[in-house]
Amino acid sequence: MTTAVTSTRSVLAQRFKQRLKPLIPAWVLKFHRDRVIRREGSMYEGKPLGEVFTHVYKTGAWGVAEDQSGFYSGSSSHDPKIVEPYVKAVTEYLSALPERPTVVDLGCGDFNVGKRIRSVCGRYMACDVVDAAIQSNRTRFSHLDVDFRCVDITTDPLPPGDIVFLRQVLDHLDNVRIATVLSKLGPYKILILTEYLPLGSSFTPNLDKAIGSHLRLFGEQPSGLVLTAPPFNMKVLSARILCEVPDSGGVIRTIAYELPGR
Ligand SMILES: C[S@@+](CC[C@H](N)C(=O)[O-])C[C@H]1O[C@@H](n2cnc3c(N)ncnc32)[C@H](O)[C@@H]1O
Repeated sequence: MTTAVTSTRSVLAQRFKQRLKPLIPAWVLKFHRDRVIRREGSMYEGKPLGEVFTHVYKTGAWGVAEDQSGFYSGSSSHDPKIVEPYVKAVTEYLSALPERPTVVDLGCGDFNVGKRIRSVCGRYMACDVVDAAIQSNRTRFSHLDVDFRCVDITTDPLPPGDIVFLRQVLDHLDNVRIATVLSKLGPYKILILTEYLPLGSSFTPNLDKAIGSHLRLFGEQPSGLVLTAPPFNMKVLSARILCEVPDSGGVIRTIAYELPGR
């Protein structure tokens, strides 16, 4: 009972904040983000990732669903200004392939984005570490013929497929866990990666951070993930930028990497 009341209160508070956000001065937002980063760092240390991201959803750290699903993967998974260019670019890319690929969506979240590209894919496996989100997706998207699985991509085996999607997932992990995930991508032919980056090219990529809801973009020194740069040095045959959308003082870039395979 107490937990339900607390979580309803925090959801209402989050909804209030979401509405106020455009009116809040940048320095107040930065002060708040710095506090969240520090708090999450100590709160989540040593916890299983399922527990961490269940807490992120429960507390509405990425915002609150307008529907009753209880899961909201963030404004960049819902804002049409961000989602539509992504869906258009990825749809064009996948439609140009000789046949519909088998895809594996790692960290599928509330599936608001995945559902929009489902029709241009062959078999679709969608994984997330939050069991309740996967169960909710199974019910809400039962008509889409998607194989939803509860998987921790850092510790569990990954399903086989042609194309792997990682959309705004790795930035929520620390560098050790990211390296572990990258070491498991060998069987896929193509990685479609979407992450926030600071504007311009003068930033230091891949600065480490603690796991949690926040992004490298908002760290003390703004950073973002460039997987082909140190310390990851991911080997690729080619890289093609599919789309770039400015947001939150940075850019959300989607790149298709052709992987060398094992
Ligand atoms: C910001 S959301 C993005 C969701 C979706 N990819 C999208 O673009 O709408 C990040 C998602 O990654 C999931 N995630 C984080 N770490 C994970 C892990 N180790 N294994 C599987 N999913 C993970 C979280 O639970 C969350 O649903």
